[in-house]
Amino acid sequence: TLEQISTIAEMRVHIKEARRQGKTIGMVPTMGYLHEGHLSLARAAKENCDVVVMSIFVNPLQFGPNEDFERYPRDIERDRELARSAGVDFLFTPEVSEMYPKPMLTNVSVSHVTELLCGKSRPGHFDGVATVVTKLFQIVQPDYAFFGQKDAQQVAVVSQMVADLSMPVQIVPCPIVREADGLAMSSRNVYLTPEEREEALVLSRSLKQAEAWLYEGVALRDIQERMIAMISEMPLAAIEYVEVLRYPDLVPVEQPTPGESIIVALAVRFGKTRLIDNLITSI
Ligand code: PAJ
Repeated sequence: TLEQISTIAEMRVHIKEARRQGKTIGMVPTMGYLHEGHLSLARAAKENCDVVVMSIFVNPLQFGPNEDFERYPRDIERDRELARSAGVDFLFTPEVSEMYPKPMLTNVSVSHVTELLCGKSRPGHFDGVATVVTKLFQIVQPDYAFFGQKDAQQVAVVSQMVADLSMPVQIVPCPIVREADGLAMSSRNVYLTPEEREEALVLSRSLKQAEAWLYEGVALRDIQERMIAMISEMPLAAIEYVEVLRYPDLVPVEQPTPGESIIVALAVRFGKTRLIDNLITSI
């Protein structure tokens, strides 16, 4: 059975009771409009923890002034049923006024790993993420928190924050869930027109190509150039970035050394819709 909770005070009562019973708590932070990617995190949490808390909160702090905060898709009734089916025990759905009753004077800011990729094109975005995740962790006090590698930089930022601030939570990264044709699942995919949806397949296709090139020993800079050429062939695609970096520290390297993880990460706009995807691998 799933219980929906919308106040911090009520959430704390349930957390306190679960703790008193010695139960482990797994948390899955989301912004809702759930899809199989989110649900895979909930199932991983269910497998590893006694109590699963999923939050659904479209966090205004992490949206830029010209971004899609207002039009971000929302459907809480549908989300509730999906969350229930994935084994979520508590669905935490605070209003903005509950999370931010007064202007925030406190900001959690992680440096370095936030200064490239999405952090460059979305200034302030990762401060908004770090701040809300800190607040959610304070409310739910999870033992484990589950994040998707779809947002690989977010995993790097949150992991760095948790380590730096000795937060008593273990971050569990989970694999990217894709549609049958390869498109990485995203709540924003509903924005795509059929033509954009078709062209967007170039993203996962170019990542697969990149992986093959990586194993062939193609220089990282050349992989980047070839991917840009491949994606640029799509008339509706506007590239924001394509980067090949060491993971998780996100440092540029010339060639990977065996055992080192490499991330191939991209952000591309199709019309008004910004899509991200990535591949993490090692040679
Ligand atoms: P949201 O975009 O709703 O994503 C919630 C979680 O689901 C994130 O950890 C994200 O990486 C994961 N996820 C999304 N699509 C996925 C996919 N195709 N496969 C696997 N995991 C996927 O990320 C956020 O919300 C917010 O920034 C949040 C962390 C909730 C803070 O506001």
